[in-house]
Amino acid sequence: MQRSEQITQVKVLLARLDSGTNVDAGGMRLNPTTSYTDTDIARMERETFFRNHPQVLGLSGDLPEPGTFITINDLDVRILATRDESGEFHAFVNACRHRGVAVEERGSGKAQRFTCPFHSWTYDSQGSLVGLPKEDHFGSIDKECFGLVELPSEEKYGFLFANPNPSGSLDIDALLGSELSEEMEAWDFGSLRRLGGDRYEIDCNWKLAMDTFGETYHFNSLHKNTLAAVFEGNVQCYDTYGQHHRMILCRKAIHEMRKLPEDQWDITIAGLPVYWLFPNTILLPNDLGMYLVRTYPDEGSPGRHTSVITFYMHSTGDRGENSAEATPGRRTQIQLAPTEALKEIAQGFAEIIRDEDYVASASQQRSAEGGALPNVVFGRNEPALHHYHNTYRSALGQDPLPLI
Ligand code: FES
Ligand SMILES: [Fe+2]
Repeated sequence: MQRSEQITQVKVLLARLDSGTNVDAGGMRLNPTTSYTDTDIARMERETFFRNHPQVLGLSGDLPEPGTFITINDLDVRILATRDESGEFHAFVNACRHRGVAVEERGSGKAQRFTCPFHSWTYDSQGSLVGLPKEDHFGSIDKECFGLVELPSEEKYGFLFANPNPSGSLDIDALLGSELSEEMEAWDFGSLRRLGGDRYEIDCNWKLAMDTFGETYHFNSLHKNTLAAVFEGNVQCYDTYGQHHRMILCRKAIHEMRKLPEDQWDITIAGLPVYWLFPNTILLPNDLGMYLVRTYPDEGSPGRHTSVITFYMHSTGDRGENSAEATPGRRTQIQLAPTEALKEIAQGFAEIIRDEDYVASASQQRSAEGGALPNVVFGRNEPALHHYHNTYRSALGQDPLPLI
C-alpha cells in the first residue's frame, strides 16, 4: 500500500477509535441459507467462478527460479505451472496429450522435463512435446501439435494468474481495476519468498469460509482468548474495488503510531489489511510478509470445501528489521530457521482460523442444511458480507439482496 494511503487509513482508524464509531453499510441484509446448500447454485459457481474465471495460482515466489514448477489440484482442471529456462511463467493443463495422465504429481520442485508415468511421453518447461518412446511403432506424431494444453496466464504485481479455461480470457488490469492494481504493485508481493503452507478440509461451504474473513464484530466473542488481545474488534476501514474489497482491521498497536511522526506510520503495525480478490482469494499482508488464503468448493457437496493457505515472507533484512529505522512493534520471528518459523506461523494461524473461525463456519453450515433457518442477517457493521454476497449473486445473474 502506498505511504500516503497508509497514513490516510491510520488516521481514519484513529478517528473512529476516538469517536467510538465504525463503518456503516447503511442497513442490514438477509441472506438465504440456501446460498450455502443449494446444489444448483453450487454447480453454477463451479462453472462460472472456478472453471472459467482467472485464478490466483500463487505468488512469483512459488516459482523462485528458472526450471521450477508447482501443481494445482484444487480446481476441476489440474494445472502445472512452470518457470521456463528463460524465466517466463506458463500454466498448462496437467494432462498428457497421449491419454490424459497427469505428467507431474509432485506439488512443487525443479524439473527441465516432465515425463508422463504411463508411457513416458516427455514435455519441456514450455510445454513442448520433446519425445516419446517407440515413435516408429506408435505412429507419426507432429510434435508441434501435441504439446501440453497451455492456459491463458500472466505474472503481474507478484501474482501468478491463470484461467483454467484454455480459450478463456485473462486481463489482470481489467480484472483488478487501476486503483487496486496500483495498490497491489506498491506491496511488492513479487519480492516475497514462500515459507510453506497448510490445508484445511472443512464441513462448510466455501463462501462461509470467505465470510469469516469479512467482519471483526466476532473478535471480542469468538476470539476472546486469542485475537481480542491484539485487535480492536469494533472498528475497521472498508472499501470496495469493483468486485473486490479491502478491509483494514485495527491492531491495538495503533496507539504506538500516536507517538511517531507520520512518515514512520506503518499500516501493518497499526492494522491488518484484508483484501478479497473475487471470487475465492484472501490476502493478509502483514509485517512478516503475506498470508494467502484460497477456498475451493468440494466437487460432491456444497457443504464442504478446502482452504489452501500459503505463507510468504520478506527476506530477512528486506524491511529494515536490523536497521535503526525499524518501526517499533515490528516482529522479527522471520529470523528463526525456516522450518521453525513455518511451524510457529502455521500453528498460530490454525489455532485461530481452523480451530475458532471454521468451527463456527461448520456450525453455520449444519444449521443451513437443517432447512429450518430460512436466512441469516448481515449487520450494518459487516459491509464486506453485503459486498461478497451481492457480488456473487450479480455474477450468477441473481437479484441483489436488498437493504432492510
Ligand atoms: S498417457 Fe501419457 S504417455 Fe501415455
Ligand atoms: Fe475470525
